[in-house]
Amino acid sequence: MKIGILNSGGDCPGLNAVIHGVVGAADQLGWEVIGFRDGFEGLLPPGDFTVLKPKDTIGILKLGGTILGTTNKGHFAAKVGKGDIAEVPPEIVAKAKQTMDELGITALVIVGGDGSLTTGLQLYREGWPIIGVPKTIDNDLSATAFTFGFDSAVSTVVDALDRLHTTGESHKRIMLLEVMGRHAGWIALWGGIAGGANVVLLPEIPFTFEKITEFINQRDAQGYHSTLVVVAEGASMPDGHIVTLDANTGGEVRLGGIGEQVAAKLQKLTGKETRACTLGHLQRGGSPTALDRILGMRFGVMAVKLAEEGRFGRMVSYQSYHVDSVSIEEAVHQLRLVEPESELVVAAKAVGICLGD
Ligand code: F6P
Repeated sequence: MKIGILNSGGDCPGLNAVIHGVVGAADQLGWEVIGFRDGFEGLLPPGDFTVLKPKDTIGILKLGGTILGTTNKGHFAAKVGKGDIAEVPPEIVAKAKQTMDELGITALVIVGGDGSLTTGLQLYREGWPIIGVPKTIDNDLSATAFTFGFDSAVSTVVDALDRLHTTGESHKRIMLLEVMGRHAGWIALWGGIAGGANVVLLPEIPFTFEKITEFINQRDAQGYHSTLVVVAEGASMPDGHIVTLDANTGGEVRLGGIGEQVAAKLQKLTGKETRACTLGHLQRGGSPTALDRILGMRFGVMAVKLAEEGRFGRMVSYQSYHVDSVSIEEAVHQLRLVEPESELVVAAKAVGICLGD
């Protein structure tokens, strides 16, 4: 057996742990591992790849990013926006297949999010031996209760909020933190609760400025003169529009900028000095937490097990403290969003967090 592995889409902490898991488990079986560089692009002739042996993965557990490189653009982008599905052109698939055949790859592990797994599904339907490993710091794939990278991102948010808290208190300001979360507000909600935010704005729960202003004025009257606000980049402004950076960069539309807009409006409505901070890619970089290292490693080991059993077209999945698998078909296009009536949201409200609704 020769197992190929590639990372595709945005990077996230824990990708190297998956590589570590795949290489370690494959080596035990006496299999060779080929790592393709820069996502699916590494499959295009003449092929950009490296042979991975256990010694090549020494020390990578603690590294952010991916030693293989990745891309969320290129010839294999199957999704360019919410609901937009594009097929990878047949001539591109044929070229990539040529590399697979020349190298004798008998299983290809794709570590990617919804878009990359959509490409994986197309290839599987065309007869490729595909195994998926879910990757999204947004933690928004419904077929898995958790993805690696999320815990690291939340830790970064909490660290940022702890810092904003002290400066905000000192100046009696409203401090606003914009965090990632394209369709789902998990990073904002988890980070916000753990970091002691007073207001958390999510893509799933429409907010009004009246509600937030009333809440902040009430806090002021109670003697709390500083307020911490977390807003997910994918939250909609009250008129329904999502704030974007540029129209299209060859991949998905880039989100960002809602933090500054909300901050300006709140300053105007409350008369309080307000500062906004965008956390951006700090959430994606850096060393993974212990939890993400372990989860990534387990995902890699399970991917090899699926290959060993010949269970292609499956995606590794984490459910009820157990790593298992689901069919890629049932995993893609199914986002796991924050339910406005869920226990977590109710708990956040119970401790006085304003969701803006
Ligand atoms: O989907 C993961 C994600 O981190 C989103 O939260 C964010 O909108 C996007 O990727 C950023 O992508 P890029 O690295 O292309 O700016």
